[in-house]
Amino acid sequence: MSDHILIERAGDAGELNIIRFNRPEKKNAITRAMYAAMAKALVDGDADDTVRVHVLLGTPGAFSSGNDMQDFMAVAMGAEKGTEVLDFLGALAGVKKPVVSGVDGLAIGVGATIHLHCDMTFATPDSRFHTPFVDLALVPEAASSLLVPLAIGHQRAFALLAAGIPFSGEEAERAGLIFKTVPAAELEPAVLATATGLAQKPPKALALARRLIKPDPDQVMERMREEADLFAKQLKSAEALSAFQAFMARKK
Ligand code: COA
Repeated sequence: MSDHILIERAGDAGELNIIRFNRPEKKNAITRAMYAAMAKALVDGDADDTVRVHVLLGTPGAFSSGNDMQDFMAVAMGAEKGTEVLDFLGALAGVKKPVVSGVDGLAIGVGATIHLHCDMTFATPDSRFHTPFVDLALVPEAASSLLVPLAIGHQRAFALLAAGIPFSGEEAERAGLIFKTVPAAELEPAVLATATGLAQKPPKALALARRLIKPDPDQVMERMREEADLFAKQLKSAEALSAFQAFMARKK
């Protein structure tokens, strides 16, 4: 397991599978090793009868700044490939148990789209949900092109996913992108109390209800693959490479 991802079984009987980003010095940017560790934690937790609910958390000020830019560069330069991102997204979209997440601060790129596969997301009011895919010469991923319009309608989806306009936690709540905003001090207690409450419900009925409420999983996976093909092509484009280089060379 990568130290950048902390995995913990919590609750009286270990019923909560808590997966936490732990790379605050890089705003929890996600490397391939981190995707792999999260995918394994989700698959293992889903297969473990003790686990009832998955919980996703970040660190104060950052849920995640999205895919690691160095990794993007490595792929853009042709040095690396890898299936870790898609494996993780497939694992997240495929879990049968509910997922509760908490965001304080940055939720960028996949750090924002992860929550589309969560069932209840809490965020602090000033959090920043931002998907600058097009600005990086990329396309939406994680089936966001399907799930965001369903959740919030075309115009707000376009603003978020194509125009790259950030939504605060409050705007995300108003739009229906997340469940609820809470002050920072209440974030983790709210996430854990909600997860604990779900863990006490009849698990089979909860899984069935969740399956009925969520969009068709085959359609979600198909869209994810369609996006991934376009994403991979764009990642190798000259316009993407120059966007990554601009990030690396930026003055702070
Ligand atoms: N990949 C790799 N490193 C990242 C990163 C990412 N996605 N996001 C932040 N970091 C690193 C920075 O390079 C910096 O590292 P350094 O201290 O070694 O130079 C550190 O995290 C802190 O980031 P910094 O940019 O100094 O903090 P900030 O508060 O000024 O800005 C962000 C934070 C997240 C707004 C800014 O870093 C950013 O825009 N990151 C890229 C986000 C992105 O586009 N993700 C991909 C979406 S598809």
